[in-house]
Amino acid sequence: MRESDGSRLTEAAIEVSSLKKAYGALQAVDGISFAVREGEVFSLLGPNGAGKTTTIEILEGLRKQDAGTARVLGTDPWADGYALHKKIGVIPQGFKFFEYPTPREAVKYYAALFGVKADVEGILAKVLLQDSAEVYFTRLSGGQKQKVGLALSLVNDPQLLFLDEPTTGLDPQARRAVWEVIRGLKREGRTVLLTTHYLEEAEELADRVAIMNKGRIITSGTPAEIITNHSSGERLLVHGSERLAKYLEKNASLPVEFDGRDLISLSLHRKEDVMAAVAAIQESGLEWDDLRTKRDSLEDIFVRLVGEPMEELEAKA
Ligand SMILES: Nc1ncnc2c1ncn2[C@@H]1O[C@H](COP(=O)(O)OP(=O)(O)O)[C@@H](O)[C@H]1O
Ligand SMILES: [Mg+2]
Repeated sequence: MRESDGSRLTEAAIEVSSLKKAYGALQAVDGISFAVREGEVFSLLGPNGAGKTTTIEILEGLRKQDAGTARVLGTDPWADGYALHKKIGVIPQGFKFFEYPTPREAVKYYAALFGVKADVEGILAKVLLQDSAEVYFTRLSGGQKQKVGLALSLVNDPQLLFLDEPTTGLDPQARRAVWEVIRGLKREGRTVLLTTHYLEEAEELADRVAIMNKGRIITSGTPAEIITNHSSGERLLVHGSERLAKYLEKNASLPVEFDGRDLISLSLHRKEDVMAAVAAIQESGLEWDDLRTKRDSLEDIFVRLVGEPMEELEAKA
């Protein structure tokens, strides 16, 4: 299919329409639709239990949907799984690889398994594992192990990769290294479907994002579009007392919120509002500190749409 985004025509690598999957009484995927364009990094973002892995498994041809359609690289993944598997790269969630001693061995073995002549050194370089290519797998760090997974998903030179939470449980530095690899895959023109429950990861890597919760897509678009469409506008934040908050409520003629401790937030509607707000703070003669303006982050939007912060949803799952 060709679709117009207004400026250019792009081929859809993945098209999902009204997709549903239940496990018994639990509706894990509840009628979702989205399309992933060729060459883009698309992120399914959502807390544990949102239905991300189920969706990905349907797209990989590992599970059959109950209803709706999925097209992946022009094929029906359930009916044409064999043809599809030659063209996609997959890292399952929670990937572990203990059977083969070193990253170089693992890549060679996988290439043999696929029956392809893989550029082993090129792949190791792509995932930034050249220097650890001979280190025993059990001695690799979490981030390096995840990179072995990425390397294995590349042996068949796939045009489309499914990365299911590739950075979950990694420390920030290792996560950044994996991000670097994913950026490299995008530069090569590969399409990536990435799931994550890290908001900043989606913000950092994805061209477009679909926020999922309880089997549904709540909103989708580029991170900037999501922020623009759902933003409550710019705010001025200042640390100060409840007295200051009350003073500003009376005198700043702007909506004021107080967090009950020391943070005051004023909604700014026009660019001039910031001057009025600062002037009112000054005129109050009261103590204030740490004055700054803030726009909604994807996290702020998520909290507003889902009703709870991601960490609380994670803790419940
Ligand atoms: N094989 C299964 N059998 C029964 N329930 C499942 C199975 N796999 C996932 N679920 C449930 O389906 C929901 C969605 O899970 P999943 O697709 O793994 O979400 P996510 O990847 O976003 O965490 C969760 O409530 C999960 O417990
Ligand atoms: Mg999952």
